[in-house]
Amino acid sequence: MICLGLEGTAEKTGVGLVDSDGNVLYNKTIIYKPPVQGINPREAADHHAETFPKLIKEAFNKVPKEKIDLISFSQGPGLGPSLRVTATAARALSLSLKKPIIGVNHCIGHVEIGKLTTGAKDPLTLYVSGGNTQILGYTCGRYRVFGETLDIAIGNCLDQFARNCALPHPGGVYVEKLAKDGKKLIKLPYSVKGMDVTFSGLLTSAIKSYEKGEKLEDVCYSIQETAFSMITEITERALAHTNKPEVMLVGGVAANNRLREMLNIMCKEQNVKFYVPEKQFCGDNGAMIAWLGLLMYINGKRMSIDETKPIPNYRSDMVEVNWIKNIPC
Ligand code: ATP
Ligand code: FE2
Repeated sequence: MICLGLEGTAEKTGVGLVDSDGNVLYNKTIIYKPPVQGINPREAADHHAETFPKLIKEAFNKVPKEKIDLISFSQGPGLGPSLRVTATAARALSLSLKKPIIGVNHCIGHVEIGKLTTGAKDPLTLYVSGGNTQILGYTCGRYRVFGETLDIAIGNCLDQFARNCALPHPGGVYVEKLAKDGKKLIKLPYSVKGMDVTFSGLLTSAIKSYEKGEKLEDVCYSIQETAFSMITEITERALAHTNKPEVMLVGGVAANNRLREMLNIMCKEQNVKFYVPEKQFCGDNGAMIAWLGLLMYINGKRMSIDETKPIPNYRSDMVEVNWIKNIPC
């Protein structure tokens, strides 16, 4: 069985083809470069409308459309206009090809493609991206949220800081580069609240430090050290509560080498395995949507067109997991 997956929750358009053995047959993402003031939801949606046809055509060149058995798409969480274009594209494909359709949760897509491509079986997942910061673990029929940001996502914090310092998008990449030359650790708010974290105070403080004349390299270094220590701390605590045997790092910020290093050290100390997918499966991609659609469909999930409306606030713990059978409750 082959599934075509459409990803379009924010500013990236992704199309993937995956078969039921977990082989990724096609996976391509096109990013819309936002203007200096940040993502304009309407323009991001226009970007999806322009780029989906191009990528879908390319995917059909890899696998003829007659051989595609299922269409899946990211139903949420995300920006309303982007989600509407993605759902419309998926419905049009499903109706014209006369194939079933499945809407999936984007966050769980990150987790499942991570498991598929790394071999992790039952990980505690730290999911860090531009729109989300969550610690997820499977227990009794659902992925539960063991900790999360109470305000902005960690990637958003890095991107907003970068934008304020006239660095290009995606900001996290440039913050990481500059942080390598930072030496001085500037004191910034370290905000852990039980199992949760907040980043807006850290962001404001970092911008102020830069405006007061601190070296950009030092501020970048200090943001990374502070923010990554916060999420490593709550991941370690969630490990103690859940006793999970593995930790997996996913989402766009998982590309960061310093974050990987900190988590690796923590996992060694806790004697658990640490996994990070290769870069094309860390950030948003169509293959993760295709793979999750397949898992759900093969295990009995069916969706009518009426049920394919976007869900902008689709939380990870709303998904009824029908595909995990070997982890006892
Ligand atoms: P989601 O919808 O899951 O929130 P997203 O739209 O933010 O995803 P992703 O590709 O998962 O997309 O993540 C993008 C984020 O990753 C951006 O905030 C970007 O700055 C950040 N990022 C990318 N590379 C790095 C890096 N090397 N270091 C830190 N952050 C990075
Ligand atoms: Fe994502």
